[in-house]
Amino acid sequence: MAIAVSTSTEIPVNPHVALAVRSGLTSMPKRLPPWLFYDETGSRLFEEITTLPEYYLTRTERSILARHGDGIIECAAEGARLRITELGAGSADKTRILLLSTVARQGAVLYEPVDVSATALLIAQARIEREIPGVRVAPLAMDYTNGFMLDPGDPGERRLVLYIGSSIANFERHEAAHLLEKVRAQLAPGDSVLLGTDLVKDESLLLAAYDDAAGTTAAFNKNILLRLNRELAADFDPEAFAHRAVWNEAHSRIEMHLVSRCRQLVRLETLELEVAFEPGESIHTENSYKYLPGEAEAMLSESGFVPAGCWTDQQSWFAVCLGRAG
Ligand code: AVI
Repeated sequence: MAIAVSTSTEIPVNPHVALAVRSGLTSMPKRLPPWLFYDETGSRLFEEITTLPEYYLTRTERSILARHGDGIIECAAEGARLRITELGAGSADKTRILLLSTVARQGAVLYEPVDVSATALLIAQARIEREIPGVRVAPLAMDYTNGFMLDPGDPGERRLVLYIGSSIANFERHEAAHLLEKVRAQLAPGDSVLLGTDLVKDESLLLAAYDDAAGTTAAFNKNILLRLNRELAADFDPEAFAHRAVWNEAHSRIEMHLVSRCRQLVRLETLELEVAFEPGESIHTENSYKYLPGEAEAMLSESGFVPAGCWTDQQSWFAVCLGRAG
């Protein structure tokens, strides 16, 4: 992406960030896109969130993979050799379970993690190649949400695309379906996608997962303001905003908001923009969609996949579903 330099402030400006922030903060109600969370601090805070006692998602999905990993890999391979591609791989922590199953089955595997963060990819590559002999890592640093091209793979080999971690949850339903269609377009018949989705459950469990006692999710949410202060010469006072998580039952989603504690005026120098806030007015920063049982399979079908298996935990909190390209 091109980086423009603002002549007035000398702060390097990412035009993608500038555009999204101007459009979001001049909208009614105000909003900011969740991809803005993931600067270096935000990515570190997210890793911390995945270890919190309240954030059941990561450990529940890990338990499903630990229990059913061999079966999932068998189901994806159908007797053929597998290559594994992962969208939004990040630290690729849970992926190790599936890589171990694949190596046990076929001796060696090519693993292609895709992520916007080249640093995260390098760290994951070094760790996986050191810890699991038999895995060759071929990282792809790109933003897969803007469309992507995968190389066709070797004849006789099948590709399994991992889209786990409930990453699909932060897209609106139509965007999620569109993203899966783009994945399908890159696959050959017999290839598959493994989709991890968080399921609807008791509201108190959902709310705690997005408003933890240690305040890590609050820090993650407010970090977006610090990012705007740094990148757009803004003067947000994070203490003047409260973190709020809300369960929106009608839309089956957890919403995250930053709620202004007072009447205030915030200046974004680089954008030459002033934004007024009323007390209680919110910036909507994230939706995290929760699926009903069967919904992930339905979405896979709508996106051109044939549902081939779905695995869940004992409490049915999370589902991992395989869709095969027909
Ligand atoms: C990355 N994504 C799946 C997380 C989620 O649960 O929606 C992001 C997150 N937001 C707050 N906590 C975690």
